[in-house]
Amino acid sequence: MRIYRSIDEMHAACRNLRGEGKSLGFVPTMGALHEGHLSLLRAARGRSNVVAASIFVNPLQFGPQEDYARYPRNLERDHQMLEAEGVALLFAPAAEEMYPKDSTTFVSVEGLSEKLCGGSRPGHFRGVTTVVAKLFNIVEPDFAFFGQKDAAQCAIIRRMVRDLNLDVEIIVCPTVRERDGLAISSRNAYLDPQQRKSATVLYRALARIQLLADRGERRASALLAAARDVLAEEPQVRPDYLEIVNAENLQPVADISQGALVAVAALIGNTRLIDNIVQHGVGIGTGPTL
Ligand code: PAJ
Repeated sequence: MRIYRSIDEMHAACRNLRGEGKSLGFVPTMGALHEGHLSLLRAARGRSNVVAASIFVNPLQFGPQEDYARYPRNLERDHQMLEAEGVALLFAPAAEEMYPKDSTTFVSVEGLSEKLCGGSRPGHFRGVTTVVAKLFNIVEPDFAFFGQKDAAQCAIIRRMVRDLNLDVEIIVCPTVRERDGLAISSRNAYLDPQQRKSATVLYRALARIQLLADRGERRASALLAAARDVLAEEPQVRPDYLEIVNAENLQPVADISQGALVAVAALIGNTRLIDNIVQHGVGIGTGPTL
């Protein structure tokens, strides 16, 4: 695996590969890699000739009170995991390389970036779309792979790609979970054993919605009320939002018959966790969603 810290060198290496007629799959990450990231790398390998990844803890997507400084960083271990997955190119720039001091241009997907996590993390999605647009320009991938776990991020990136006519196909991969249902996240490492146990309540709340929806409940209000009852079983867990929205525009829906995204975020101690499930619309397709 070749590791690049310079934008120009990464760009040239990616251009060369594509010049040789190879298709390029790209997996952007913030490192502290886990099975969720690995599932994206495997999907990328299945879909493209060459896989490129990036590790960049993007300061622009963290708020001033958030965990940028203490976000887990483990480059040595990450490198080994990427090698083992057959990644050919790793881009791991310094913050100054990505954001020169006088850099003043941002990408903002208006109307979506304020929804879900955007409500309690102002500026977060602007940071995500700005860095992802830059990464797409540097790597110029044919395909880019994102996790369903960050459903709002996926919707916002898809909208950005469409609105700006970016020449990349976005592929969304299913959420990878621990055995007890907790969605795998780099931030799970912050939880103490008691918090780790309580954290499964997010999954249990979503599972309750899944169960009721499978039994035919279509009213978002009834589904949300049932899930709120489940969340209330864990007083340690402070819900931030629990919403049923349209998966593309992130607007709340009153009825899930046409399909919907059920998204939840909660704080456990200082740790913020998110999770979601997708309900397929009637006749739009079925299949396991959890
Ligand atoms: P990060 O949190 O490192 O996640 C990188 C990718 O892994 C994202 O697409 C995320 O949705 C996916 N992912 C994380 N946990 C997952 C899980 N349990 N199952 C499946 N996929 C999972 O998301 C970011 O970084 C950043 O916002 C980034 C896109 C890199 C921009 O800075």
